[in-house]
Amino acid sequence: MKSFVAAAAILLSGFALLSEAHISFRYPCPRRGSYSECPQGDWSLIDYDIRSPAGNHGTVNSPICKWPSSFPGVRPVFKAGQTINATMDIGAYHKGGSCQWALSYDNGTNWVVFQDKLLTCMGDASNGITYSLPFTIPANAPSGSAIVNLFWNNNEGNRELYSSCADVVIQGTNGGSISGVEPLIANYGPNTPFIQELVLAGGNYGQSYFAARKPITVTVPKQSPAKRRLRSRMDSN
Ligand SMILES: *[C@@H]1O[C@H](CO)[C@@H](O)[C@H](O)[C@H]1NC(C)=O
Ligand SMILES: *[C@@H]1O[C@H](CO)[C@@H](O)[C@H](O)[C@H]1NC(C)=O
Repeated sequence: MKSFVAAAAILLSGFALLSEAHISFRYPCPRRGSYSECPQGDWSLIDYDIRSPAGNHGTVNSPICKWPSSFPGVRPVFKAGQTINATMDIGAYHKGGSCQWALSYDNGTNWVVFQDKLLTCMGDASNGITYSLPFTIPANAPSGSAIVNLFWNNNEGNRELYSSCADVVIQGTNGGSISGVEPLIANYGPNTPFIQELVLAGGNYGQSYFAARKPITVTVPKQSPAKRRLRSRMDSN
């Protein structure tokens, strides 16, 4: 009986850990998300651990986008210059941290950061809530299928990197380029920069690493009208 109770307690604490696990995009829908905001896909493929980190300082848990693709379905269309009323599913907010929003037009090979909120991102959240965290698509963003990713390094707790990838369509300039910096990928395995807990680091949140991010320009080829029609059909079924 005692060992049954102990086993149940371990199980329960495991569930508690899972259910409080950290953060994810809710909207736009993250890959393999099961939120009501998401296309309803193959239920056997749902990621029930979607709020868990992509890695920590010691270990890489998954590729940056976790999954190679989204469920098939309608991708949200965002206009260049538009502010998106994005929401986060927050299990544990870890006293906030540093957010970098990045776009990839080549399926995650190259990322360009288009918005930062360092140190204070989600710092006024609390555990177990849906949190509103808007981002603005740059006015000069090229048109095309893209991934929006929110990279997040937490201020408190295990030294982790969170990464939430949403497949979207950008409606902007037909053919063009977008410039910014490459995201800082920290606390993602031993080969990446280490950002210490904010209190232990005396308030240092890795600012020198953020300041040293490399500039990048991503160029997206012009699409012919026929190709654009085909693309939007493919994206909407
Ligand atoms: C995107 O990359 C993943 C691997 O990360 C691959 O499995 C998938 O097929 C790629 N998708 C496209 C549309 O190229
Ligand atoms: C943004 O989303 C939040 C959470 O769903 C909601 O409370 C808020 O009213 C929305 N704001 C706008 C401008 O739509």
